[in-house]
Amino acid sequence: MSTEPGAATVLPGEPLVTTGLGPTGEPLPPGLHWRPDTRQWVVRSHDLADTVLRDPHIGTALDPERAGIPLPGVADVPSVAQFFELWYHRGANHPTFSRALRRAYAPSAVGEFVDAFVDLATARAAALPPAGDLVAEFIEPFCLDGTFRLMGFPPSRWPALAKIYKIVMYVIRARFRGVLDLPEQTTAAFAAAMRYLRQTVEELTAAPAATPLAACLRTYAEAEGPDPWADVATVAQLLAAGVPQVTTGIGVACHALYGDRALLASARAGGIELTDVAEEAMRLSPPFLGVYGWVTTDCDCLGVRLRPRDAVVVDITAVNLDPDRVPEPTSFCPGRSRSVNITFGKGAHYCLGAASARMQVVAGLAGLVGRRDVHPDVSGFRVTDDGFARAVHALPYRMDVTGGDR
Ligand code: HEM
Repeated sequence: MSTEPGAATVLPGEPLVTTGLGPTGEPLPPGLHWRPDTRQWVVRSHDLADTVLRDPHIGTALDPERAGIPLPGVADVPSVAQFFELWYHRGANHPTFSRALRRAYAPSAVGEFVDAFVDLATARAAALPPAGDLVAEFIEPFCLDGTFRLMGFPPSRWPALAKIYKIVMYVIRARFRGVLDLPEQTTAAFAAAMRYLRQTVEELTAAPAATPLAACLRTYAEAEGPDPWADVATVAQLLAAGVPQVTTGIGVACHALYGDRALLASARAGGIELTDVAEEAMRLSPPFLGVYGWVTTDCDCLGVRLRPRDAVVVDITAVNLDPDRVPEPTSFCPGRSRSVNITFGKGAHYCLGAASARMQVVAGLAGLVGRRDVHPDVSGFRVTDDGFARAVHALPYRMDVTGGDR
């Protein structure tokens, strides 16, 4: 357990303003809170989170009252609205497709990529300029490389795909902020991104050397009929669900490791596993802040009467710090059981990409730790939180030209 000042701590975020009383002033059971501004039930204990995450009365499936819009024809280019419609139709929530997708991202399927991730991280770390920002120069580009490699895109396509990722993320983030009307230039860039993505995804599924994802898309097309735009939306959804979170995961793990000299020395000497450092850093500062769902049928599972359409959010940070389940919850203590955190969700709400994400975060750390002349300045670490997720923005570093390990 680390006690050195500057060792990994719970990174600051916007506290959720909640009350221990329900909407009509009734007292609430321990671990359950009410957020009046958004009218959400907020779950903050492990016990209640366990209930919510396996409760059949609380779901995240598509809102049955949502008004859909027509999907694009095969020769059209999807508009932004149609892109999200495709995403809803054949996203990770699709009953049949999601099972195949989960198999493609199972630990046994992604395990073979571990060496490729380490090689990519090592190469990126070796190419670092003498000083700069690790988020821009290493962490995000490495996450993109690793993700494209896992998906099976050839390296010649990676630079263009990285640009496409940025366009798609811009549009997705605007949508989540409720911005639907985008400037003409953005709409045109989005259409170009969709066309490029379709071309590369079609190449991916036609290529003989299949990755688990390519094989999954191809098998599904053979069984159900081809749907190239749905494949595009799936790939975009995987990029959006994965790259920002893995970027944050590596960022908070670097902050933990480089903020504590003893920890860094121990990791370099093999006294402590990078896997444990990463897991503990993401317990204290989880990239995703909540699991969101809503009540589908009347129930009392959380100790109060819940009504259909009530919104329920599991506060991941709070659950990861629950003193009833986690001894000394705010201490950085690598080697804790994974069961004391829900960083990747749980049960039916377990992250589809957890295995590959963990491998990528550890490979990123290993690539950096191997370069003893790289000195990150954790005092310049910048992280923000928009209520849904944490995002890392900066981690300045400099290179020690003497190659020293200070
Ligand atoms: C450190 C990195 C990551 C963290 C902390 C994380 C965390 C989570 C969490 C907490 C959930 C549950 C959300 C909910 O049900 O509301 C989730 C779901 C999901 N994650 Fe991740 N994730 C990470 C990386 C990835 C990666 C790399 C991928 C892509 C391969 C991915 C794909 C998904 C998908 C598709 C879902 C939705 C699953 C479903 O609804 O069936 N995630 N993730």
